[in-house]
Parts: sequence; C-alpha cells; structure tokens
Amino acid sequence: MSFQINPLSTALGAEVVGLDLAEPLDEETFARVHQAHLDHQVLVFRDQHLTPAQHIVFSRRFGDLSGHVYDQFLLPGYPEILKVSNKKTADGDFAGLASAGRRWHSDLSYAETPSLGSLLYALEIPPEGGDTLFNNMYRAYEALPAATKSKIDDLKAEFLIGSARKYYTENERPPLTEAQLASVPPVEHPVVRTHPETKRKALYVNPAHTVRILGLDEAEADALLTELTEHSVEPQFVYRHKWRLHDLVFWDNRCCMHIAEPPPPDSNRHMHRTTVVGDTPY
Ligand code: OGA
Ligand code: MN
Repeated sequence: MSFQINPLSTALGAEVVGLDLAEPLDEETFARVHQAHLDHQVLVFRDQHLTPAQHIVFSRRFGDLSGHVYDQFLLPGYPEILKVSNKKTADGDFAGLASAGRRWHSDLSYAETPSLGSLLYALEIPPEGGDTLFNNMYRAYEALPAATKSKIDDLKAEFLIGSARKYYTENERPPLTEAQLASVPPVEHPVVRTHPETKRKALYVNPAHTVRILGLDEAEADALLTELTEHSVEPQFVYRHKWRLHDLVFWDNRCCMHIAEPPPPDSNRHMHRTTVVGDTPY
C-alpha cells in the first residue's frame, strides 16, 4: 500500500497520510508503520474512520491492551477503550475522563507494568484549542550534562497515580474509589530507562506520577525531579499537536511524555483511547 510518512517537527512526531487503518495491514505495511513509530515516537494517522472494533484490532497488532483504573469511563461493550471526553451525559456527568492529562506524564507509569503506547482517536474536536503536546525523552536524556547522566543513570523513583492523588482533586477528574486506589499501589521504576526495542536511553520520570527520586535526601530529590522535568519539556524537545477531526495519534509511552491543554469552555472534545501494555522498565 502506498502512503507517506512526513515529519511534523524537529523534536519528534510524523504524520501518516494515505493509509486506511480500517483495513487489515499486510506484514510489510505493518513493519513500515512499526519502524516509523520507533523512529518518530508519535505517529498521526490522518483521516481515519474506525469503529471501536477496528480501533482495537489495529491497536492489538502492537500488544495486549489494558483497561483503565477509571473503569467507569470504559466504552460499554469495549473494555479496551477509554472515553476521553468533556461532554456531559443527560445526568450532567462527564461522558468520559475529562482531564486525561493536565500535567506532563507517561500513561500508566504508575503501574507495575506500564504502557508501551496509547492510541487516541479524535471523534469530536473543538474549533480550536485542546491541543496535546508531546516531548522527546531520548533527546532530553541525551542533552543532559555528563555529570547529571552519571548521577541519575542507576537511580530509581517511586511512582503513584497522580503523585499521591494530590493533582486529581479537580472536579473534571472524579476521586478514585477505595477499590480503584487499591488496584494501583506505589511502584518503583528507573529514572532513566532503556527502550526495549531501540535500546536507546530515555528519561522516565514525570511530574504527574513520580512521587520522589529514591536514595537522595528529600530536598535534593525534589530539586532533581524539578530540574529534570523542566529540562525535558524545553521547547526543542516538544511537538504541539493541533488535532484534526479523525486523527488517530499513536505515541510511545516509553520515550515520550504528553500533556493535554484544556479545550475552550462550551466546546466538545470527544476521543477514544486504547492503551497497549508494555514491559517492566529497566
Ligand atoms: C490520554 C491523555 C491527552 C488528551 O488520553 O492519555 O493524556 O489530549 N489525553 O486528551
Ligand atoms: Mn495520558
């Protein structure tokens, strides 16, 4: 199948034009898509018309899919799909997770086995705003001074959903129930991880789910986390995605963070996300 892969920024990201993901991909096409994902970290498939089942079938090519701790926002009949939406139901509740990521984060980095990547499909978008930003955690790591690299290379950090939940109290994101919280106990992951496919090193700590860097005194650990976070989202490492209707964006959670900007009030933004299960970070 003939299709184009066009880089979207100097930091990361490429768009894929002329590929219909509703059709099964042959092995050669899949291999090209897979390699492009490793090379560009974020792929934007334009103009897709996918049923939930087709979205799932394509996502499954990359691995098993996970549900989500916010299980009330899974699409009925399709537990592999998380609704990311600011729309309201007839009862006035959000139709999906309204604020899926108001801080820089990597999906499921709070889990024992975090995510390989997520595939977010735009079914309704606001006329403007509601952008998603992505960063390149390989480049962020590579650009650090040698002394910082050797200091952090073998450090671990503690991760907990919403950094001890303190960021998730806004009304767009309902508090987790006891059972939901119990399903995501704190975990430890390396501060710097090696991507299991490319073997490149990437920073892995993020300001949403990393509680603290371990093995340092508290003030030093906090200062280091802040320094690494601020460094990793400098503009040269960031791609801003302005959504077009029917974009399907597939990002690599092993070497990118992302953040969602709030859509303008009174506008609808409605998306479906699948989440591919990854490996234990090392
Ligand atoms: C997510 C997320 C980004 C967005 O779905 O993982 O962080 O732009 N959402 O809604
Ligand atoms: Mn996210």
